[in-house]
Amino acid sequence: MGKIIFATNNAHKLSEVQALLGDAFELVTLKECGITEDIPETAATLEGNALQKARYVFEKTGADCFADDTGLEVEALGGEPGVHSARYATDGHDFAANNRLLLKNLEGQSNRKARFRTVIALILEGKEYLFEGIVEGTIATRESGCEGFGYDPLFVPSGEIVTFAQMSAEAKNAISHRGRAVAKLVNFLKDGKL
Ligand code: IMP
Repeated sequence: MGKIIFATNNAHKLSEVQALLGDAFELVTLKECGITEDIPETAATLEGNALQKARYVFEKTGADCFADDTGLEVEALGGEPGVHSARYATDGHDFAANNRLLLKNLEGQSNRKARFRTVIALILEGKEYLFEGIVEGTIATRESGCEGFGYDPLFVPSGEIVTFAQMSAEAKNAISHRGRAVAKLVNFLKDGKL
């Protein structure tokens, strides 16, 4: 089994991505490779942040690694919160406050189109690769469901009538932004083809 570092401290994401990778690769956590500090994410784009995190880990370890960055892009808000999704309402990754602010900013708005976009930056044998996954959908007018995390209680993927937070992890992974980006990563890791 190959080993690869996933540059995240989010246990929920680790298990989500490990499930998608199956037995092909064992994910190594940041803690396991001795990185306990917060990795800077100061770029202006998802691509920039994913690369910044992967390069940081590669410089410290010299090992194969990948990092992801995700944003919720809301059409009526000009693509916001986008790269600011984690700290939309406060500095502290407060999911409930982010959801309240999103609902407030969309009050009275009939265009509720949104998409989640994930970018994964992989550094394999010192070479850099980017993978993108997108899921289109709409922002509901109130929160529903308690699965998942982040904006899941508000995001209804296209073709569904329930939010991500009302879906099982398997059902969400099958269509999600991260699921799609990870599928591209996994295909590449398994076949060596982009
Ligand atoms: P990250 O780059 O994956 O940490 O994502 C940044 C922010 O986007 C998170 O703090 C969440 O608010 C939001 N986010 C990322 N992925 C998801 C998801 O699958 N569902 C809901 N919100 C998400």
